[in-house]
Amino acid sequence: MNQATTPVPTPIAPHWSAFIARNGPHTAGVPLVPLTTDRLRLRALTVADHAEVFDVLGDEPTTARVSWRQPDPESARAWLDRRIEDQRRNGLSMWAVEALALGEMVGLCGFFSHDGVYETELGYVIKAPLWGRGYATEAAQAAVASALQAGHRLYATIRPWNIGSIRVVERAGLRLDESTEDDRGQLLVYRSR
Ligand SMILES: CC(C)(COP(=O)(O)OP(=O)(O)OC[C@H]1O[C@@H](n2cnc3c(N)ncnc32)[C@H](O)[C@@H]1OP(=O)(O)O)[C@@H](O)C(=O)NCCC(=O)NCCS
Repeated sequence: MNQATTPVPTPIAPHWSAFIARNGPHTAGVPLVPLTTDRLRLRALTVADHAEVFDVLGDEPTTARVSWRQPDPESARAWLDRRIEDQRRNGLSMWAVEALALGEMVGLCGFFSHDGVYETELGYVIKAPLWGRGYATEAAQAAVASALQAGHRLYATIRPWNIGSIRVVERAGLRLDESTEDDRGQLLVYRSR
């Protein structure tokens, strides 16, 4: 006999309901940006962002300890081209994070899609002089809410020493799922479900 099952309501994180109230529900296939939060705007990158992207990824204090570093304008240009292509193919990519009050790019936040991998990787980087203001948390919460609503399964990989990043990813709603290793040492893997 077929028993009718009672649907279990999925708890919606507070930042997710705030996101829906502000940006409306997204559906698969619809571009996920632009998004706005209290202080930030997340938008697709364009070729015109080259200088600002290099300003973030070429900055030694910002990227000294992580694999984001693009040491010269040419490598930053190639990185930017790949992100623009990601956005065109997948509807999501790394996005520019602009502070509304400052009227400038304060960092990058969004997703990397890897061929043959069904999960989408969350990433974020904020300019070092602006760390500690909650920008990464605010951007990651909006990006994650938008991608989950569109049906993506998300993960993030973080080195155990990167306490700031661990706080950000946990506040965005991802949970520690496994600890693994690569050629640079231990790597924590956080997942959305
Ligand atoms: C990780 C990073 C994105 C955090 O950006 P941010 O805008 O400073 O983040 P938030 O302001 O939202 O801070 C998140 C939390 O981490 C804490 N934090 C930030 N930097 C920290 C640090 N170096 N050490 C310890 N805690 C730190 C903040 O104090 C805050 O916690 P709190 O609110 O409990 O005090 C930023 O440091 C960065 O760009 N790092 C280089 C790139 C990187 O590591 N990206 C992630 C790769 S997985």
